[in-house]
Amino acid sequence: MKEKLEQIKQEAVDALGEAATAEALELLRVRFLGKKGEITSILKQMGSLPDEERPVIGGLANQVRAYIENAIAKKAREIESREMSERLIDEAVDVTIPGQVFPLGRRHPITIVLDEVKDIFIGMGFDIAEGPEVELSSYDFDRLNIPITHPAREWTDTFYTAEDESVHLRCQTSPVQVRVMEAQRPPIRIIAPGRVYRKDEVDSSHSPMFHQIEGLVVDRGVTMGDLKGTLNMIVGKLYGESTKTRFRPHHFPFTEPSCEVDVQCVVCGGGGCRTCKNCGWLELLGAGVVHPKVLAGCGIDPDEYSGFAFGIGLDRMTMLRFGIDDMRLLFENDLRFLNQF
Ligand code: DAH
Repeated sequence: MKEKLEQIKQEAVDALGEAATAEALELLRVRFLGKKGEITSILKQMGSLPDEERPVIGGLANQVRAYIENAIAKKAREIESREMSERLIDEAVDVTIPGQVFPLGRRHPITIVLDEVKDIFIGMGFDIAEGPEVELSSYDFDRLNIPITHPAREWTDTFYTAEDESVHLRCQTSPVQVRVMEAQRPPIRIIAPGRVYRKDEVDSSHSPMFHQIEGLVVDRGVTMGDLKGTLNMIVGKLYGESTKTRFRPHHFPFTEPSCEVDVQCVVCGGGGCRTCKNCGWLELLGAGVVHPKVLAGCGIDPDEYSGFAFGIGLDRMTMLRFGIDDMRLLFENDLRFLNQF
């Protein structure tokens, strides 16, 4: 039995030498020290030994057990520290390697100008309103006092989506005026930016889809003077305080009186150039005093209230702001162009 114990010890030493992982080590622990392990089976046979040999073999068995326990513990520490070093190497992060550069998005030039315009109007107490791009003809035409004979109502001008011409892609943001006046009582102060659609051929200054910013103010005692003051302020903020404006008489069915507003050419300063076709002025928007019929149609008493409205061409405004000479650039999404803003 003594030889057997020596043999177990030697086997344990050999096996431990080869064990390389924590799992292998656990198997060895079970094999030598476990309840059904080799040492235990020796101890179980102690009863068959003569009395005088029992303490000798017992003592030896305990020594061997302690020896193997120690050896396993030592090996466990070795394996643990080796696995840790391997992990440290495997999972090492080299903080000096250059990072991956993610291209950062940026705002479209139209959005840049729109955000500026919104800020200015919000600063003057305006709210931002919205209306649908697929609009009822009653809102886009009838209730804006646009007669059935008006050229804008032709199939050749407007994208109708209903055979009976009752629904179409809105050709201006003006119907939002009606929607707001229907839902809100004065005082009203809103701007309504958005896309509009017309059957125009694409060229350097036309696109079948473009952007407008509608404006509407309704209150007691609102006059053309308020309109001029408001628009001059906007132009000053966007193009510089010294930029001159020009209000020309015009006709729109939903305003009376109506005007078109020009700004002094931002390219040549008014002297005349290619951009302003040598006249020194650039057309920016249409505006006027809201027609009493339009107010009344929305349940607002024109004897008590008055208002002004305007419609700005946002794409035009963006082109002037950044000196862009072709509208197509705004909609082609060429990154070489967009990355410049
Ligand atoms: N809706 C007009 C257009 O698209 C622009 C316009 C003119 C809007 C006068 C207005 C306005 O609100 O009062 O040509």
